Amino acid sequence: MSKLRAKISGIHAWVPPYILTNKELEAMVETTDEWIMSRTGIRERHILKGEGLGTSDMGAEAVRGLLEKTGTNPEDVELLICATVTPDMTFPATANIISHKAGLKNAFSFDLNAACSGLLFALITASKYVETGMYKKVIVVGADKMSSITDYTARETCVLFGDAAGALLLEPTTENVGIMDSLTGTDGSGRVHLHMKAGGSLKPASHETVDAKEHFIYQEGQPVFKFAVTRMADVSAEIMERNHLTADDISYLVPHQANLRIIDATARRMGIGKEKVMINIDRYGNTTDATIPLCLWEWENKLKKGDNIILAAFGGGFTWGSIWVKWAY
Ligand code: UT7
Repeated sequence: MSKLRAKISGIHAWVPPYILTNKELEAMVETTDEWIMSRTGIRERHILKGEGLGTSDMGAEAVRGLLEKTGTNPEDVELLICATVTPDMTFPATANIISHKAGLKNAFSFDLNAACSGLLFALITASKYVETGMYKKVIVVGADKMSSITDYTARETCVLFGDAAGALLLEPTTENVGIMDSLTGTDGSGRVHLHMKAGGSLKPASHETVDAKEHFIYQEGQPVFKFAVTRMADVSAEIMERNHLTADDISYLVPHQANLRIIDATARRMGIGKEKVMINIDRYGNTTDATIPLCLWEWENKLKKGDNIILAAFGGGFTWGSIWVKWAY
């Protein structure tokens, strides 16, 4: 009997309508469009505005759209995993709230946190439920309201991040398509360079933590940059090598969108030309768990069945990973 694989059978994404441009940021902090573009490649990012709206609202929008375009009955979905670093609340899981808002009455759901690699880790986890034959319809959501943990007086970070959500449908197949292989890694010693200082059990929220602005993203850009370049490039090259894939075999690289210079370095290491690299960081910035589905969603019409695609990410933790996908439709 041929092997059961998990295929991506649908992709959808949602971005909030408000666009925060570099020009607007120039009026908020001491920065310039030139600095932001040359150091990061970001021109604008979308921000979720409005009282009472959180990550689950963006996730539910993406899931509703995915169900509609794939003709999937919400009650047939058995599992939903949400990758996020900006959950609606510490508990319950944002995945539970998304399932409720999108009418997934029969799905069990949970969150997964692996910072910017979360979407990849969630996709790998979800694929195992499908490959074992346990579930036939699984949704993976990558959603982050990064604006909720961004200090808009700190120029080092506020220019980088945006809000968005993406959702993928996984279903079983016996064809030679779908999630083919994956590589992952973590190194907890890297946490010192990228984290949120307070709000967890180590340092619960207090007046002092609020006054010290410890509920925002803390990032030491340069060490993170250095690790991101090597780890993302290494893991992408390694997954090609161990599957005997050459640059000619690859249709697209889908890198996490944190910095255009990191993306370029990864593509160079893989020997892949720029025309094969999905890049939309200029319009969305770093949306953490949503960057990879946002790319796939925008490129969906160009993809063909059998295309070899490498997904690659690096994030806080540190975490990193790559997945080889054969596109299924
Ligand atoms: O997605 C999760 C993983 N995260 C990443 O992969 C991010 C990795 N890191 C990076 O992408 C880059 O390190 C940054 C984009 C965050 C920063 O770029 P950089 O080239 O590493 O700049 P830097 O931090 O070394 O700062 C260079 C200078 C500094 O000024 P001095 O000390 O040279 O006078 C900063 O104060 O640029 C200054 N600077 C800014 N200037 C204008 C920092 N932010 C800004 C800004 N506008 N927004």
